Amino acid sequence: MSPKRIHNFNAGPAALPQVVLEEIQENFLDFKGSGMSITEVSHRSKWFDEVINDAIDRIKRLLDLDDRYHILFMQGGASLQFCLMPMNFLNDGRSADYVNTGTWSTKAIKEAEIQGKPVQVVASSEDRNFAYIPKNIEFTPGATFAHITSNNTIKGTQWAEFPDTGGIPLFADMSSDIFCRPFDASNFGLFYAGAQKNMGPAGVCMVAVRDDFLEMVPEDLPTMLKYTTHSAKNSMFNTPPCFAIYTVQLVVKWLEETIGGLDKMAALNQQKADLLYGFIDQSDFYAGTADADSRSLMNVTFRLPSEELEQQFVADALNNDLGGLKGHRSVGGCRASIYNPTPLAGVEALVDFMKTFEQKNG
Ligand SMILES: Cc1ncc(COP(=O)(O)O)c(C=O)c1O
Repeated sequence: MSPKRIHNFNAGPAALPQVVLEEIQENFLDFKGSGMSITEVSHRSKWFDEVINDAIDRIKRLLDLDDRYHILFMQGGASLQFCLMPMNFLNDGRSADYVNTGTWSTKAIKEAEIQGKPVQVVASSEDRNFAYIPKNIEFTPGATFAHITSNNTIKGTQWAEFPDTGGIPLFADMSSDIFCRPFDASNFGLFYAGAQKNMGPAGVCMVAVRDDFLEMVPEDLPTMLKYTTHSAKNSMFNTPPCFAIYTVQLVVKWLEETIGGLDKMAALNQQKADLLYGFIDQSDFYAGTADADSRSLMNVTFRLPSEELEQQFVADALNNDLGGLKGHRSVGGCRASIYNPTPLAGVEALVDFMKTFEQKNG
């Protein structure tokens, strides 16, 4: 009997490509003839070496990154990055610009402020409950970096285009939209993504950091908190989260070999998002929460006429094998996370269910 699988709209940890899960299952007891599971081999073994290096090569190819960029696999989630960026780069009088587009940006700013680092919040969409991405931002000449959250998982907004910073290197939290589309990475000094949304399981955070930033890292920081420690040792200064990195490797392999790269992935994501937003827009029952020009391709947030109906919607959906549709606890409402692995068929099934639910309750 094949295992039960539902359409999974969780925000993170989130759906993984079915073929990736199957490949993990198939190789779980005997990894590449080693007679051991990938969870049992040494991180210093040739087996794991191949895994991590292949993952890095594929990530660099997918994002078209040149040799100045180093791919690190770190622990502590995206949340630790909030603390490490100011700690490593805002010394000797250096300051940074931050754009505040929601909960995660706010947390990133707070971590810089806790350390007493000079940061300027140059734009914010807090005035309208973070329902939009600010435009025409004036960045501060001489800032060391300008930090944005490329996709706001909770509020359902995303930068359609990255801002013109006038040459200040961008830093971005891409936790919930990494690999959803191609982008020009050469404007970025650093970007990072907790894997558990669009890239793999929880437990690892991918960081891409450019050489010139590594040169700024002070010697006297605690060893584990310096980017240079991890770049010098190919993310193996200490034991890395081997299983999570292995899964990331399979996801990026899937992106390259099955999907065919980020242009193709972007087209599929656009198709899924158009279908869902298109349905919401023609309905008087469902209402999107983000401004149309700031909508996320990944997290589609919407409300129903009452909180009671929202609760019933989430429960009925699960009874129809559509899971994870509850909005974040801080904002309520509903949210369908349609990350890369969500197939078009999943969004079609959701829209069908939404139609039926509206007919019954509208
Ligand atoms: C955009 C964004 N940044 C940061 C985080 C926090 O990531 P982590 O749990 O890996 O620290 C999340 C989600 O949980 C997120 O969606």
